[in-house]
Amino acid sequence: MLNELVGKTVAVLGGSGFVGTVLANHLERSGAHTRILTRNREHARGVWSLPNTTTIELDVYSEAALTDALAGCYAAVNLVGILNERGDDGRGFARAHVELTKLLLAACVTAQVPRYLHMSALNAAVDAPSHYLQTKGHAEALVAAAPLQTTVLRPSILFGAGDGLFRRFAQLLRLLPCLPLAGAGFRLQPVFVGDIADLILQLLRQLLPAQHERLELGGPAVWTLRQIVDYTARHLGRRRAVIPVPAMLARIQAEVCEHLPGKPFSRDNWRSLQTDSIVTGENGFARVGIIPTPIEAVMPPLLRPREHYTALREKARR
Ligand SMILES: NC(=O)c1ccc[n+]([C@@H]2O[C@H](COP(=O)([O-])OP(=O)(O)OC[C@H]3O[C@@H](n4cnc5c(N)ncnc54)[C@H](OP(=O)(O)O)[C@@H]3O)[C@@H](O)[C@H]2O)c1
Repeated sequence: MLNELVGKTVAVLGGSGFVGTVLANHLERSGAHTRILTRNREHARGVWSLPNTTTIELDVYSEAALTDALAGCYAAVNLVGILNERGDDGRGFARAHVELTKLLLAACVTAQVPRYLHMSALNAAVDAPSHYLQTKGHAEALVAAAPLQTTVLRPSILFGAGDGLFRRFAQLLRLLPCLPLAGAGFRLQPVFVGDIADLILQLLRQLLPAQHERLELGGPAVWTLRQIVDYTARHLGRRRAVIPVPAMLARIQAEVCEHLPGKPFSRDNWRSLQTDSIVTGENGFARVGIIPTPIEAVMPPLLRPREHYTALREKARR
């Protein structure tokens, strides 16, 4: 049964980020009102121009502030996630992933928000090898036990404009004469960020078949990290040697990179790369009839926009 979103209010935590900005645009088109709950209004600049989107700055670690901000909402979407923390003891991950989820779920119950969607990740589990995946696993357990209609989304790595996958490799390939690559054989099933936003909208429109559901989400093809880098280099027009880094050296590389500005790679990132990020059971996109978008349909113009459109113009003239 369809449950239209027109006029309904959806709160999005972590809505200023990569997924959140795309989601806010999709929600805008659906006729919903969106409330972006953020630690800092400036972070949500990307959605300021959307007329039906309001940005609320608050202490996201205050249950009372969250409860106030959720008043009258039909649904809450939790997109908060960090890939790195200060140090390496898991406390930063636990705060952002577990503590925040606990507070938000409690606030949803008090504010009587009936529907909750939670972004997790493939391989999240309480006994996973990295703090990132462990804390995502603990958060999933909290969501499953909450007295609300809940959905957990477990995607592989996401791609799209401004992603952390192609964009990061493109920056490195522009900068370096050759690329030492840790986890070159790591397999992933990249998911288009626009498909995730479509999926969230579809799920918000549906009545759930059960009180709680968990969807594993993968794109249409399995790639290795090495193939992603080669593809990026080819589309950037850069010929670069890619040097796979053996496991022993990768750990050292991670320790060194942890101390660089912006922490481009960390020990915890390396631990997350120990298990392939691919869907093993049913792909959740099938449940709502979404056909996952391939990388080839999205990335070429994003990697090299000028050349791509010149080629299209030339082709059109022929
Ligand atoms: N990108 C991927 O490839 C990928 C793959 C699998 C799963 N995911 C999951 O999908 C979700 C969205 O990912 P994304 O790529 O959109 O992330 P993102 O761009 O980094 O955005 C995450 C948002 O979380 C909030 N946030 C960051 N640190 C926080 C902290 N310490 N405490 C509270 N809030 C904090 C920020 O919102 P404010 O600054 O506005 O408060 C930020 O906009 C995350 O849960 C992520 O783990 C992402």
